[in-house]
Amino acid sequence: MLSPEGRVILVSGANRGIGLATAKHLGSLGYELSLGARQPGNIPQMENRKNHMTHHWDAEIHGTSAAWVEATIERFGRIDGVVLNAGVELGGSLESGTEEEIDRMFAINFKGPLWLVRAALPYLRSSGKGRVINVTSLAGKRMRKHEILGYSASKHAAMALTHAIRQLGWDDGIRATSICPGLVETRMTENTATPSDQFKLEPETIAETISYALALPNSAVVAEILLNSRYEPMF
Ligand SMILES: NC(=O)c1ccc[n+]([C@@H]2O[C@H](COP(=O)([O-])OP(=O)(O)OC[C@H]3O[C@@H](n4cnc5c(N)ncnc54)[C@H](OP(=O)(O)O)[C@@H]3O)[C@@H](O)[C@H]2O)c1
Repeated sequence: MLSPEGRVILVSGANRGIGLATAKHLGSLGYELSLGARQPGNIPQMENRKNHMTHHWDAEIHGTSAAWVEATIERFGRIDGVVLNAGVELGGSLESGTEEEIDRMFAINFKGPLWLVRAALPYLRSSGKGRVINVTSLAGKRMRKHEILGYSASKHAAMALTHAIRQLGWDDGIRATSICPGLVETRMTENTATPSDQFKLEPETIAETISYALALPNSAVVAEILLNSRYEPMF
């Protein structure tokens, strides 16, 4: 497994939920972190202040990707991984989803991550062991609820992004993994009732899974990790 020492990782949406749990966990393991958020002042102080920086990043504002990457290079001089975590679930139902909802989900769940990875690519290449961990969803694996068609479609697009990164980055040692959780206990699901056959995963479980994927060597290729909290015949 790769050692965290000296590896610089970007985490988007690090101010709460899965992103915050990931930032805390990776920080405790000794990674150097560049934490992105729409309002970086909302990112809680990490225990080890020396090994991290914060920066503004808004998935809906194209130019913020290059600015975040440049600031990270200025501070740390390298980038070894990007955790594409920030995302929104706005529904986008087949019958009544609005164009605005659907556009925003594609902008935040697919296009923002695409611009961020594009900006980081030269540095992931020079790392020789660049990693992209894309927090997609089981909704990116199957269309289970017509009420969230727009979300599901944007997460299917995000899955395609992971595969494109795998193809393009292969010869330069870049490896990309989609992490596909079912329901997780965060603000995103605070109004979602838990069905009787299911429970909500802890964000810390997703953070552990992300750290596992980040640490795999170039020779261990894992395209997808699916985490379910209920029985489904295929996963
Ligand atoms: N919770 C679940 O059940 C579940 C299941 C499967 C997959 N996921 C995925 O896991 C990821 C993290 O979600 P979560 O559960 O931790 O939800 P969350 O607590 O709602 O966090 C969402 C994060 O995304 C950020 N974000 C929203 N719009 C943004 C934008 N335009 N630019 C940059 N950041 C933006 C939020 O920042 P602000 O605070 O500024 O809004 C926040 O940091 C998402 O990609 C989500 O789709 C979640």
